[in-house]
Amino acid sequence: MKIIGTGSALPEKEVTNAMLAGFLETSDEWITTRTGIRTRRLLSHETLRDLALKASLKALASSGLHPEDIDYLICSNVANSYVSPSLGSILIGKLGMQCPTFDMNGACAGLVYCLDIADAFIKTGKAHNILLVAAEQPSRFASWHDRSTCVLFGDGAAAMVLTEGEGFRDFRVTGEAHTDVMYYKRSLEPTPFDRVEEKTMPLVMEGREVFRIAVESCIRDVDTLLERNGLKGDDIDLYLLHQANLRIISCIRQHLEQPEEKFPTNIQKYGNTSSASVGILIDELSREGRLKDGMKLMLSTFGGGFVTAAALLDWSAIKYSDGEGQA
Ligand code: ACO
Repeated sequence: MKIIGTGSALPEKEVTNAMLAGFLETSDEWITTRTGIRTRRLLSHETLRDLALKASLKALASSGLHPEDIDYLICSNVANSYVSPSLGSILIGKLGMQCPTFDMNGACAGLVYCLDIADAFIKTGKAHNILLVAAEQPSRFASWHDRSTCVLFGDGAAAMVLTEGEGFRDFRVTGEAHTDVMYYKRSLEPTPFDRVEEKTMPLVMEGREVFRIAVESCIRDVDTLLERNGLKGDDIDLYLLHQANLRIISCIRQHLEQPEEKFPTNIQKYGNTSSASVGILIDELSREGRLKDGMKLMLSTFGGGFVTAAALLDWSAIKYSDGEGQA
C-alpha cells in the first residue's frame, strides 16, 4: 500500500497561550517550557465535519482520484457530537460517495492503526482505493477549568488516499490496559432498570505517567521495527511522531541518538490534535516538498488505552497542483 494523496484542515480560530492565561492560572512560559505548545487552533464557528470534508477534498484532489473511485472510507475519531451516524457515514454523504465506512477509535494512535487496517484490506483485495480520514476535537474532552489538560489540545483533521503500491513495509500495533492513567467518560441515557447514576467526566490524566508510558512504548515500537527490518536509526530519513509534547519527542530522539532535524514538529502551532496530528504533519511536509521520493519514514504514535501504532514506509513524492502547495 502507498499514499497517493494527502490533505489537512485546521479551524480558523487561533488561541495563544497568553489568551489562555487570561482565564486560567497559567502562563506562556509554563506551557512553552513544559510542552513546546505556543498556539492551537480550536473549533468555534466551524464543525468537525467541515474540517474532515475539507481535508478529504484536498487529499482526493492531490491523488487524482474522484470520490467514485474510492471503495472504502475509514475514519479515525475518538468522539464527536454524534454517536450515530458515524463521522464516516456523514462524510460519504457529503462527498457523494457510496461505499462501506466505519469509525475507529484508536485514541491518538488511531490514524496509524487505521493505516494498518487499510493495508490489510488492500493486500486481501477487499478494497483498492481507500480514503482515510482522521478528524478530532480533543479540545471538547477536557475541562476548560483544568489547566493541566485543556492547554495541551487543539482540533484538526487530516486525510490520505491509499492504493496498491510499494510504500508501507511494516507495522507494529499494540495494546496494554492502562485505563486509569487517562480517560474521558460520557454519560448515556438513563433507563428505569439501571439505577447507577452516570456523569460525564472531562478528561482525567496523570500527566507524568502518560509521559513515561509514551516515551517507553514509542522507543520500544521504533526499535522493534528497525530491528525487524534490519535497519539502524541512521537509516531513517525522518521520524514523524505523534505531536503530544515536544519533551516526549526530545526524549525519544535522545534515546535514538538522532539529530533534531530528523524529527519535524508542528505541535508549537497546533497543540495535540489526537489522531489527526501525524496526518497533518505528513500533509504539511509533503506540500512543502520536504518528503522526497524514496525517503524512509518512521511513524510512531501512542494514545489513551494505552495503544500504540508505528509504521515504516518508503515515501513516493506526491505532486500538488498550482496554488495547492501550502496547507
Ligand atoms: N500552567 C501552570 N501550572 C500548571 C499547569 C499549567 N497549565 N498545569 C499544571 N501545572 C502545575 C501543576 O499543578 C504542578 O503544580 P505543583 O507543583 O504546585 O503541584 C506543576 O505545574 C507541575 O505539574 P506536573 O504535572 O508535574 O508537570 P509536568 O512537568 O509533568 O508537565 C504535562 C505536565 C505537560 C501534562 C506532562 O506531564 C505531559 O505532557 N504528559 C503527557 C501528556 C500527554 O501527552 N497526553 C496525551 C498523550 S496521548 C494523547 O495524545 C491522547
